[in-house]
Amino acid sequence: MAQEDVFKKLVAHCKEYGFVFQSSEIYDGLGAVYDYGQLGVELKNNIKKYWYDAMVKLNDNVVGLDSAIFMHPTTWKASGHVDAFNDPLIDNKDSKKRYRADVLIEDLIQKFEVKIEKEVAKAKKRFGESFDEAQFKETNPRVLANQEKITTIHTRFAKALNDNDLEDLKQIIVDYEVACPISGTKNWTDVRQFNLMFSTEMGSTADSSSKLYLRPETAQGIFVNFLNVQKTGRMKIPFGIAQIGKAFRNEIVARQFIFRMREFEQMEMQFFVRPGEEMKWFEYWKEFRMKWHKALGMGDESYRYHDHEKLAHYANAATDIEYRMPFGFKEVEGIHSRTDFDLSSHQEHSGKKLQYFDPELNKNYVPYVVETSIGVDRMFLSIMAGAYTEDVVEDAKGKKETRVMLKLPPALAPVKMAVLPLIKKGGLPEKAREIVNTLKFDYNLQYDEKDSIGKRYRRQDAIGTPFCITVDHETLEDNMVTIRYRDTMEQERVAIADLEKILEEKVSMKNLFRTIV
Ligand code: GAP
Repeated sequence: MAQEDVFKKLVAHCKEYGFVFQSSEIYDGLGAVYDYGQLGVELKNNIKKYWYDAMVKLNDNVVGLDSAIFMHPTTWKASGHVDAFNDPLIDNKDSKKRYRADVLIEDLIQKFEVKIEKEVAKAKKRFGESFDEAQFKETNPRVLANQEKITTIHTRFAKALNDNDLEDLKQIIVDYEVACPISGTKNWTDVRQFNLMFSTEMGSTADSSSKLYLRPETAQGIFVNFLNVQKTGRMKIPFGIAQIGKAFRNEIVARQFIFRMREFEQMEMQFFVRPGEEMKWFEYWKEFRMKWHKALGMGDESYRYHDHEKLAHYANAATDIEYRMPFGFKEVEGIHSRTDFDLSSHQEHSGKKLQYFDPELNKNYVPYVVETSIGVDRMFLSIMAGAYTEDVVEDAKGKKETRVMLKLPPALAPVKMAVLPLIKKGGLPEKAREIVNTLKFDYNLQYDEKDSIGKRYRRQDAIGTPFCITVDHETLEDNMVTIRYRDTMEQERVAIADLEKILEEKVSMKNLFRTIV
């Protein structure tokens, strides 16, 4: 199935099963704003717990925070967002559609990457077992020509971004004949900068009110609380502050479902270190964060690092962790070495000292910061995209049918186990409810007695429930149930008394955490 079709199906699936809805749908929706439904909120909460516990519980020098969305307006002057939080925009004169110039160029680069992938796939098919991919890529003339184009565009693109050269950004689009996907024409305006922060007013009367911004990142709430936490928690450098919260950006090209939203959620951690030690910690967190992703078992080949061509105004090193989405490898998380930019700037703008006295060095300094920043919604999308699977199976009568399944990591699955009485009478529903009632304190379970067992299994597969257990007549005699595994569809008899142990072993986050530390 083409990846575009997979993505369309995934979006439809998210709605059909109560994972994600368009915001204010009855009013025809609000662009790039989404609501999470009854199963979506469970998955989202599990992702947040997986992140928070990994950061705060596994690292004894990382603590949590929950800072307000509204902040003093000078915060955003100090952070550089008022002056430099811009996107380069370009309009197509015929369709009147607006695009981010950098995204158009990234898409252009991706087209050449796809061409290379197609050549490799064709050759793999032709040569079979004996195919040497590395050698093919080094020698095939078509691959080499496309690779050269990628390198040329990349170099020019990075330079234009670094130099803030808007004319050359446009020129790349013109030179490579990038067309508007709507009108199909190459009739472009010049590239302009556009600030992404939303603003609002605080106060009741026009003259007493002041302009506030909805925070575009949660990080600044951490910076302004650096001394509060350090002093009250008696924290010693190196230490980190982690928080999860909403962020808002007036994204111009809001697209690809929940990949780029105007209201979204971030999980950010600022790690405060001695100046000069930031690269050591940058490497440490790069590795730790990649292990966190891979521990979920979605396939190591689905992740890669992408070092930044253009460093943000505050960074001296930056990398992204990218995930293979249905529309290509895309950033899910950013890891930045932010130097002392933020703390120094807040110190300057507030007139308050934001320094740490290091007893070992016997001196004061403004700490350097390594940041890890991941979008909850993007993580959600990557998990759903990796989990969406269709396979062909046989029903009870031997008829072939397509099974839609979410192969979610059991620790993140919204429902951990479904309890199904074989029929609706004979004491089976009561026994099934008894099982639910003993396990529901620790696990999110579903009880379902409607339709045939086959149909109920399919419903659970579609929402990613890792296990179903069936209560039948024998259960009443021997206190055993049939457990059926989502991925293999294998079934076995187990004692009701063992269910808690089985769940603990298979769905607990503990086992994932053990592979990270
Ligand atoms: N504090 C640093 C920071 O905010 P960023 O790269 O702009 O860095 C970090 O954002 C992460 O937040 C991204 O890797 C992405 O997962 C998520 N994110 C950013 N903008 C987003 C948007 N418009 N919609 C959804 N997620 C977004």
